[in-house]
Amino acid sequence: MTETNEMSFSTRVQSPVEAFGPSMLHLRDPAHKRIRSLVSRAFTHESVERWRPRIREIADSLLRNLHGRESLDLIAEFASPFPIIVIAEILGVDSNDLQQFKSWSEAKTELFNPSRTRQQTEALLAADEGLNNYFACAVESRRQKRGDDLVSALVVAEESGQRLTSREIVLTCNLLLLAGTVTTTDLVGNGVLALLKHPEQMHKLRQSPGLLSRAVEKILRYDPPVAQVARVALNFAVLGASKVRPGQASSSSVVGNRDPGIHLDPYASDVERADTIHLAFGGGTHCCIGAPLARAEAQTAVRALVEHFPHLRLDPRRPIEHKPVPILKGLKSLWIRAC
Ligand code: HEM
Repeated sequence: MTETNEMSFSTRVQSPVEAFGPSMLHLRDPAHKRIRSLVSRAFTHESVERWRPRIREIADSLLRNLHGRESLDLIAEFASPFPIIVIAEILGVDSNDLQQFKSWSEAKTELFNPSRTRQQTEALLAADEGLNNYFACAVESRRQKRGDDLVSALVVAEESGQRLTSREIVLTCNLLLLAGTVTTTDLVGNGVLALLKHPEQMHKLRQSPGLLSRAVEKILRYDPPVAQVARVALNFAVLGASKVRPGQASSSSVVGNRDPGIHLDPYASDVERADTIHLAFGGGTHCCIGAPLARAEAQTAVRALVEHFPHLRLDPRRPIEHKPVPILKGLKSLWIRAC
């Protein structure tokens, strides 16, 4: 695993997200620093901890609907809707708008599909327009009347007399939705798959739920949802022991996470081991701002799942399907037997 000279790098490798304007992920300092520090004022570790009980209620209500089902696709029925509903609530989406918001969010994940059809592209563009209008209206309404939601917190966030513009808030909401849903779905899916493939690990977790946060870090190291963070050096820089010229370099979390120089047994997935250092959330100036939320969601999802379904196991009649998506690493479906 290597250390990067963070000031010298910028995300410049083409990503589908760039087509929709420069969110903070694609800005360089000082613009990035200004927006990120304002967003960090609204999206704090403490706020995530306050949302935890509600996150658990959301997981419980999704899982309750699955009781009595013999075989089900955990991705479609739980791991995928769960983070969308969580972020919708955090952003203050009205419950009457939730279905529409969910269908826009699902259509938007087509951004990551390199072989999407024309129809899917059209649905994606319509979803993008719908979400932009939705967030723009939400910002205006929170400017009139504040609520207890993240959009309101972004409206009032202030530092050194600086505030976010309405457009910056809309771009940020879109980014939070895009960066925080598919990745968390993949983390839950990859995590449950690893536990089901290693029943002795699942057993340890059931016996000692206190191991949960360590288990989630293990999954982030062992099977990270973002397999590669591709960056290009803007200036001469030092990457570990290597010197990098402008135009060169990319870093991969999968490779770094299994560096035998760091991990004694890089392919082990033992939930009890404490060596949880990893690059799953990136590093440097753009490192994941949503990591506390992702952790809270994954810990809650896995805990709720094992509590609701004590006999959870893979459905041997169904193949395990991976998504044919570059960079992101997750499951297309995960069929389980619940009773
Ligand atoms: C397991 C789940 C997640 C993983 C693996 C993940 C991974 C990452 C990675 C690797 C980066 C750095 C990208 C780069 O350097 O180019 C990043 C940035 C980011 N993530 Fe996450 N993420 C996750 C969940 C979330 C959540 C839940 C949110 C918010 C709701 C979120 C919001 C963001 C944002 C806004 C950035 C850009 C930060 C910046 O540009 O300063 N992520 N994430």
